[in-house]
Amino acid sequence: MKIDILSLFPDMFEGFIKTSIIKRAIASEVVDIKIHDFREFAQNKHLKVDDYPYGGGQGMVLMCQPLLDCLKSIVTPESLVVLMSPQGRTLNQSYSTELTKEKHLILICGHYEGFDERIRDYVDVELSIGDYVLTGGELASMVVTDSVVRLLDGAITEESHLDDSFSNGLLEYPQYTRPFEYDGNQVPDVLMSGHHENIRRWRLKQSLIKTLNKRPDLLEGRVWSDEELKIMQEIKEKD
Ligand code: ADE
Repeated sequence: MKIDILSLFPDMFEGFIKTSIIKRAIASEVVDIKIHDFREFAQNKHLKVDDYPYGGGQGMVLMCQPLLDCLKSIVTPESLVVLMSPQGRTLNQSYSTELTKEKHLILICGHYEGFDERIRDYVDVELSIGDYVLTGGELASMVVTDSVVRLLDGAITEESHLDDSFSNGLLEYPQYTRPFEYDGNQVPDVLMSGHHENIRRWRLKQSLIKTLNKRPDLLEGRVWSDEELKIMQEIKEKD
């Protein structure tokens, strides 16, 4: 996959692309990430990228020309052009998984200000990472990139994201590592048993309990398996 990010603050991405899984995914050519400073496309003397809003009002508005010239220099018929904005659809795990099917993502970040509305004519999707306003789209574009890249084949150990929270519509089951006992708290016996079927069932039950307690909204409209229905019955009988 190719990801191009348009931003006025390319330095913000330095640590992000040079660390951990993203760094490795770039090194192993799972993904190619490029950051473009669209100020370089400004045609005015002072390299201005924003201007006062027509009709008056607070703040500045990003102009069409520098941003769209930058976009036009990289967009192809295969690109999905994404505008990072709190007005967009909200990112979730299922949409991140959908985005992994794209060959080329272009993520556009604004900063401080709004976009000239006409920029939206060149955008396929407007995407938010939650109902709050950030100072710019940079952090949001990193969130999107991170959540998508880790799902790409070869980015992390095959199958290790199959147990992620949300991937099966449930929160992830509790995990433990050494030592066996910490502050008098022991690892559940079943995990020490080596009995794979019992461990699988215990994990499913714990996932259901966690989801029921922390995010019951995720269970609304769920298509239940027979096994899950049986476990839910057990959970209810215990209460
Ligand atoms: N830019 C500012 N706030 C944002 C948000 N919540 N999501 C995406 N982009 C943004």
